[in-house]
Amino acid sequence: MVDLKEYNIEMWEPQKIKDFRRDLLAWYDENKRDLPWRQNQDAYRVWISEIMLQQTRVDTVIPYYERFLNWFPTIKNLANAPEEKLLKAWEGLGYYSRVRNMQTAAQQIMKKHEGVFPSSYEEISKLKGIGPYTAGAIASIAFGLAEPAVDGNVMRVLARLFEVDYDIGIPSNRKIFQAMMEILIDPDRPGDFNQALMDLGSDIESPVNPRPEESPVKAYSAAYLHGTMDRYPIKAPKKKPVPVYLTAFIIKDHHGRYLLEKNEQEGLLSGFWHFPLIEVDSLSENLGQLSLLDGKKEAEDNPEILSFEQDYDLVIDWHDVSYPIVQHVFSHRKWQVQLRYGLVKEGEQPTSESTVWLTPEEFSDYPFAKPQQKIWEAFIKNEN
Ligand code: ADE
Repeated sequence: MVDLKEYNIEMWEPQKIKDFRRDLLAWYDENKRDLPWRQNQDAYRVWISEIMLQQTRVDTVIPYYERFLNWFPTIKNLANAPEEKLLKAWEGLGYYSRVRNMQTAAQQIMKKHEGVFPSSYEEISKLKGIGPYTAGAIASIAFGLAEPAVDGNVMRVLARLFEVDYDIGIPSNRKIFQAMMEILIDPDRPGDFNQALMDLGSDIESPVNPRPEESPVKAYSAAYLHGTMDRYPIKAPKKKPVPVYLTAFIIKDHHGRYLLEKNEQEGLLSGFWHFPLIEVDSLSENLGQLSLLDGKKEAEDNPEILSFEQDYDLVIDWHDVSYPIVQHVFSHRKWQVQLRYGLVKEGEQPTSESTVWLTPEEFSDYPFAKPQQKIWEAFIKNEN
């Protein structure tokens, strides 16, 4: 058990806690956002929304959420979904392990719980991809259990209410906020209490440009009352993502089809289709070289292009067009991708399990991760 005093946190008296719950919930009843996953308390629906909302904004999530439920209306549908369709449903949301884990969890529910979502915190926590936050959110929203759901938003709000001097970005500090929430949470309306804090944290108490004057609980907020809002929450700046330089090859054949490969490696973008892609040491050097050269000569002089032709057993008529660099930031890496475009002169890379030639109309049948969509958009823009 965490002793809050050891962390210099003075918990409120019981009456103040009651008043706080009342004021927060009254505000929520008046102001709660009308969101599709709030239409009912079905655990499957709540679960999908909570997983999608990790690292993704509400406005982005809504259309994905509705389509996902259309495609996979039941836990059984999700458990049995083919990989291609599963990834397609998540295409563009990123962090694809989320949806893979969801499928594994759906299979667990089919096997261990006869297809019915488990209703205890302990059983919910055993499902793949469900950590303490998500377990708390589902337990409280779908089953009315008094379990906290502590995410970044909730920590930010609490840090300001109590002037918590511990970094909310350090995972081991989460237990402090968990302990606070176990005392504060409204036992009669835990799901609404958690969601009220989420709503507050993502708008009025947002990380940038908060509007503390509008907060329904400003009278309880130590940081507001002491004029220390700018100090809380404590959070060390994130490390910068490491740059990674790549070349994407956009290769077209005489039938107007493009060469795509399936990523068979374990990891971030496993199972997605992409234009052939190689990592290079740096961009500017390559680009400078490429833009000076043309046609055949270029292929002879440029090692990257030569090795592409060899690896794929193709002879390419390279087009000397310079495209804008495509950038995409993953959590720890920043991709910078230069594009090379060419038409097949000789040879044909056969279609296989992991290579296909596709017309643009056929792209929608294959999952593309965000960077590939950006590459295609940059290419198309320059074509017209
Ligand atoms: N962010 C995470 N979960 C949420 C929820 N249930 N409602 C609104 N925002 C959220």
